[in-house]
Amino acid sequence: MKRVKPVLEVRDLTVRFTQRDTAVDGVSFQLYPGEILGIAGESGSGKSTVARAVTRLIDAASGEIFLKGAPITHVTGKRQRAVYRDIQMVFQSPAGSFDPRKTLGDGIGESLGNTGMKRSEVRERVGELLRQCGLGEEFAGKYAREVSGGQCQRAAIARALAIRPDILVCDEAVNALDVTVQKQIIEVLKDLQQEYGMSYLFISHDLALMQSFCDRLLIMQKGKIVEEGTADEVILHPKKEYTKRLMEAAFLFG
Ligand SMILES: Nc1ncnc2c1ncn2[C@@H]1O[C@H](COP(=O)(O)OP(=O)(O)OP(=O)(O)O)[C@@H](O)[C@H]1O
Ligand SMILES: [Mg+2]
Repeated sequence: MKRVKPVLEVRDLTVRFTQRDTAVDGVSFQLYPGEILGIAGESGSGKSTVARAVTRLIDAASGEIFLKGAPITHVTGKRQRAVYRDIQMVFQSPAGSFDPRKTLGDGIGESLGNTGMKRSEVRERVGELLRQCGLGEEFAGKYAREVSGGQCQRAAIARALAIRPDILVCDEAVNALDVTVQKQIIEVLKDLQQEYGMSYLFISHDLALMQSFCDRLLIMQKGKIVEEGTADEVILHPKKEYTKRLMEAAFLFG
């Protein structure tokens, strides 16, 4: 049994977009320091909605979210911005998340500048982050519209890692990247986890990748967690018929 306190705890979370449909229905889980927790499940099962609720991009209809023991379920304004020092996220299509008037370097360095870091240090750190994510330093001077989707994705990962958050939420963040780049990013994430004890909430359809990368897995169906366990348990010995089908589909056609 783990005695350590979870860095993120979700209790009985429910999210509704309409009166009739419940996108996330009574979801509870804990993310521990240094843990890589995966969420898998069919399209529309509520994975992204969980990610958006824990990062406070959408409101919970009910339930509670705790960040390092403090409730953040309904934080707004200044306290909400403070949450982003501890929890950062990367989504599948990051193009729109960079300000089109600013260079990628400015976008990545923004949070560092806000901490009072000197400009020269920011520049150096941005270069280091870009290199870690497989981009040359010259990308600091480019705009989002001037780079490919995969390059923009890597810049978004670099930006999310800039202030070394305790938690990184990755919603299909590496899926669109080619295998070599994907491997490189996964290695960077693993290094950060080992070096700084970062925790990840890792959403993906790539179950083979999740088996090697994640410690634990949650399987979602129609807004609910229907199965959970260590990545090996869930992938090699799924209990539910739904999970078995998911694994078969992933490993046959994935
Ligand atoms: N902004 C929205 N407005 C209305 N309904 C939404 C919205 N976002 C998601 N939904 C609905 O909520 C449910 C869960 O969607 P969600 O995006 O969380 O699924 P997902 O598991 O991330 O799927 P995918 O694997 O395709 O990304 C779906 O039924 C979806 O149609
Ligand atoms: Mg999704």
